Amino acid sequence: MSDFHHAQLDWDEQGRPLSREFDDVYFSPTSGFDETHHVFINGNDLTRRFGALPAGGRFCIGETGFGTGLNFLCAWQLFRQQAPADARLHFVSVEKFPLSREDIQRALALWPQLAPLAAELLDQYVAVHPGFQRFSLANGRVVLTLLVGDAMDCLPELDARIDAWFLDGFAPAKNPEMWSPTLFAQLARLSAPGTTLATFTTAGFVRRALKEAGFAIKRTPGFGKKWEMSQGRFEGQAFLDAGKPWFARPGFVPQSREAVVIGAGLAGCASAASLAARGWQVTLLERHDAPAREASGNPQGVLYLKLSAHGTPLSRLILSGFGHTRRLLQRLEQGRDWQACGVLQLAFDEKEAQRQAKLIEAFPADLLHSLDRSEAEALSGVALPAGGLFYPDAGWVHPPALCQLLAGHPNIQLVNHAEALELRQEAGRWHARAGDVTLASAPVVVLAGAAEVLRFRQAAGLALKRIRGQISRLPATAESAGLGTVLCAEGYVAPPRDGEHTLGASFDFHSTDVTPTAAEHAGNLELLEEISPDLGRRLRVADLEPARLEGRAAFRCTTPDYLPIVGPLADAEAFAETYAVLAKDARQVPDVAAPWLDGLYVNSAHGSRGLITAPLSGELLAAWLDGEPLPVPRAVAEACHPNRFALRRLIRGRSA
Ligand SMILES: Cc1cc2nc3c(=O)[nH]c(=O)nc-3n(C[C@H](O)[C@H](O)[C@H](O)COP(=O)(O)OP(=O)(O)OC[C@H]3O[C@@H](n4cnc5c(N)ncnc54)[C@H](O)[C@@H]3O)c2cc1C
Ligand SMILES: C[S@@+](CC[C@H](N)C(=O)[O-])C[C@H]1O[C@@H](n2cnc3c(N)ncnc32)[C@H](O)[C@@H]1O
Repeated sequence: MSDFHHAQLDWDEQGRPLSREFDDVYFSPTSGFDETHHVFINGNDLTRRFGALPAGGRFCIGETGFGTGLNFLCAWQLFRQQAPADARLHFVSVEKFPLSREDIQRALALWPQLAPLAAELLDQYVAVHPGFQRFSLANGRVVLTLLVGDAMDCLPELDARIDAWFLDGFAPAKNPEMWSPTLFAQLARLSAPGTTLATFTTAGFVRRALKEAGFAIKRTPGFGKKWEMSQGRFEGQAFLDAGKPWFARPGFVPQSREAVVIGAGLAGCASAASLAARGWQVTLLERHDAPAREASGNPQGVLYLKLSAHGTPLSRLILSGFGHTRRLLQRLEQGRDWQACGVLQLAFDEKEAQRQAKLIEAFPADLLHSLDRSEAEALSGVALPAGGLFYPDAGWVHPPALCQLLAGHPNIQLVNHAEALELRQEAGRWHARAGDVTLASAPVVVLAGAAEVLRFRQAAGLALKRIRGQISRLPATAESAGLGTVLCAEGYVAPPRDGEHTLGASFDFHSTDVTPTAAEHAGNLELLEEISPDLGRRLRVADLEPARLEGRAAFRCTTPDYLPIVGPLADAEAFAETYAVLAKDARQVPDVAAPWLDGLYVNSAHGSRGLITAPLSGELLAAWLDGEPLPVPRAVAEACHPNRFALRRLIRGRSA
C-alpha cells in the first residue's frame, strides 16, 4: 500500500481538530483566527505589503503545513480587502497528510467570518491526491498550489520565488522534520533578499538553523499566553537555481499583456483561459466555425489515468492534471457536460492484472482501488469478463463544454474562420498571417493547433506525429442506459449522454482522412465485445450495421516520449550552434542563454489524454510566461519542454 493517508483527527469537546499522528493541535484553543493574524499576517507585515502592491502586482506566500487551510483563507481574505483589484495572490503550501473533505469542512465551520471563502475552497477540494495540486480560486485571482507529500520531497522540486513564509509545522518537539536545516536550506533557495518569514516558535535550534540558512531572526511578542514568536528576513544571496540554460525561464518581458492563441481545442482554450485569468488580452484564432471541432469535439471523452508505479514525469503530470481538470469540472453541469461516474479499467489479461497490482501498491485507495468481478458487475450493472481498477473520482466529459467554459472569459476574443498560415515578427510583435492579411498580432503567440503547429517554420523541428482515431455513437437502449460507470479495456464505453453511448477508439497511424469508416466502427464494436459481451447484447450490437453507425474521426497529436510539449520555443538552428559542444560532451553546461524566439510558446501533443493534461498545461504555460510558481515539479516541466527534442538531437547526434 502507498504510505499516503489523510490526516487522522480527533475532535475535542469544543469541536477543535487534533492530530493523532503528531499529538498536537492544528490551531490555538483560544482563537486560531486571531492567532493566524497575529503570527503570520502581522508577522509578515501583509496588510501593508498587500496594500502597497502595484496595479496588476503579484504576491507569493509559501507555507509549511497546510492543515485546515485556516492560514490560507485568512491571507486570501486580507488580500481581498487590501490589494488592488487586479493584483494576484499565489499561495504555495506543503502538506503530507491532507485533511479529508469532511474533516476540512468541519474544521473550517469554526470560522463563520471566513464562510464564503471556505465554501469556494471546499467546492474545489476534490481529487486532492499526492503531488502538486493546483486550485484556481476567485476567478483565477487567487492561486493555491498544494504540494501533497513530505516537505522534504516536495520543496526541492518547487520552482517559485516566495515573498513571505508561514512556518506552521506542529510544535518543533513533536514535528522536528518540519524545522530541520535541510528544509530551511530549501526555504532559502526559494527566497530573495527581502523575503520575510514568521512562526509561532522561538525554539533555539529553530532560530539557529534559520540564521544559518541566511535569515535574520528577531523575537517579537507572541499571541495570547505565548510570550514570544519569531520573525525573519532573508539576507542571504538569492540563489534560485535557474536550471540548465535551455530549460531556464527566458528573460523576455512583453511590451504589453496581449497574446494570440492559435487553435481553439482544449489546449488553445486552456492556454487562453490561463492567460486571461492573469489579465492578458487574448485573441483566440480558430479555423473552423467554432471551438472544439477537431480532436476536442467528441461527444464524450474519458478521464483516463494511465499511471505508472514508478513516478515517471508523465505519471506525475497525469496525477496533477487530473486534479486540476477535476476541479475545473466542478464549474460544469453534471449529467449534461460531464459525469463523475468513476472509471473502471478492466484487468482484461494477465499482463494488465499485474500492472494494476503494482498501481494498487503505489497509489492511495481513494484515487484507485481494485474491484473483483462481482463488485465490478454490481457497480457497472452489466456482466463483465473480469474485475479491475476503479478510479472513483474520474468519469466522462463532453470536451466541447470544457472548451466553452475555458474560452468564455471576457478577456478572450474568439475569432472563428481564421486560419493562420504563417508567423512573422516585426517590431516586437508576432503577426499571425493568412496570405497578405494579418489575422491578429501581439507580443506573445501560443501555438495550440495540435500537429498543425508544424506548419509554422519556427516550430517545424518539434517531434510531433498524428494518429487518427474514430469513435462510434451507440444509441442507448432501456437495458444499456443504466450503465453505472465508464468501462475501459483496450477501448472504452461510457454511460449515455443525450441518449447515446460513446464507444472508442480506433488507432490508425497512416490515414490522413477524417471521414469515418465502417471498418473502424466494426473495430470499435470488437473493442466493446472485449469489454462486455453482455453490454453488447444490451446495445443490440448484432442488429447494428457498422456502415450505418454514426461517429466521428480526428487526429490525436503525440510525441515520441508521449509527453506534451508546453513552453517557450527557441530558434532551432541557433540552438544547435549555441550548444554544439554537447554533441562531444553531453555533461557540458555552457553558460549561454538559449536563443529564445521571444514571445513564442507552444501547448500541444496531448495524445489520448488531453482532457487530463491540456488544462494544467495552460497553467504551466502561463507560469513560464508570467514568472510564477510552476504548477508541476521542475523535472516534470522540463520533461514537457519544447527544447528537449533539440537537446536530444544534439546529444545523440541524430533525430529525437
Ligand atoms: C478518437 C479520439 C478519442 C479520444 N478520446 C479521448 C479520451 O477519452 N480522453 C482524453 O482525455 N482524450 C481523448 N482524446 C484526445 C483528446 O481529444 C486530445 O488530446 C485533445 O482534444 C487535444 O486538444 P488540442 O487542443 O491539442 O487539439 P485539437 O482539439 O485538435 O485542437 C486544435 C485546434 O486548432 C485548430 N487549428 C489548427 N491549426 C490552426 C491554424 N493554423 N489556424 C487556426 N486554427 C488552427 C484546429 O482547427 C483545432 O480546432 C481522443 C482523441 C481522439 C481523436
Ligand atoms: C499546525 S498544522 C498546520 C495548520 C495550518 N497551517 C492551518 O492553517 O490550519 C501542521 C501541518 O503540518 C503537516 N506536516 C507535518 N509534518 C509534515 C511534513 N514532513 N511534510 C509536510 N507536512 C507536514 C501536518 O500534517 C499538519 O497539517
